Amino acid sequence: MNEIKSGSLDAIITDPPYNISRDNNFKTMGRAGIDFGEWDKDFDLTSWIKCCNPLLKKGGNIVIFNDWKNMTLITDALEDNGFEVKDLIRWKKTNAMPRNRDRRFITDYEVAVWAVKKGGKWTFNRLSDTYEIPEILGGLTPKSEKINGGHPTQKPVYVMKWLLERLTNENDLVLDPFMGSGSTGVACKELNREFIGIELDEKYFNIAKERMSNS
Ligand SMILES: C[S@@+](CC[C@H](N)C(=O)[O-])C[C@H]1O[C@@H](n2cnc3c(N)ncnc32)[C@H](O)[C@@H]1O
Repeated sequence: MNEIKSGSLDAIITDPPYNISRDNNFKTMGRAGIDFGEWDKDFDLTSWIKCCNPLLKKGGNIVIFNDWKNMTLITDALEDNGFEVKDLIRWKKTNAMPRNRDRRFITDYEVAVWAVKKGGKWTFNRLSDTYEIPEILGGLTPKSEKINGGHPTQKPVYVMKWLLERLTNENDLVLDPFMGSGSTGVACKELNREFIGIELDEKYFNIAKERMSNS
């Protein structure tokens, strides 16, 4: 991120680690307990946020997905670093799998917080005749989007497009500093947005590159 020019980004849209993975061997309803990989353990959920403000234009949008239990940490960090928190956006999954249906509710949604860098006019494209409900409705990532094994927490492209259509404009420059398999980048390419993606794991980085060159 240090190599990105100050004030050059229109938006940051990202899905960083949630820190929800646990080492375990038990199985629930025949499915392994959650362990997406080492990248999802002991991740520092907030220090990276201070690097974001200088890179964005005034009024630039930032959207951060995470576990709902981490959201106040993230909103506090945004407010401490020159952002105004606007809304919570939910992705409601229409085909989520129950994990222990006789003991708890199904987890059929994820959330993302939307905030704006203070001091400028932000982009908000109302696409509905009435008002925008902050809900993205649809299925889990289809197999057709998972090349070379895909990513264990890969976001569907339609989710990233929903955000881009409302919170960015054509030719805007968008950063995803935790791009995984590159769903944000694919969505940017399909909607004519410029994209910078960063990913620590070479395997996912290569998947992202291949997906973007095929889109
Ligand atoms: C939740 S996943 C993103 C998945 C992505 N949205 C997709 O659709 O494939 C978070 C990613 O952040 C990466 N990551 C973790 N720490 C990082 C860091 N310091 N810099 C860059 N990437 C990092 C992990 O390797 C992981 O692929």
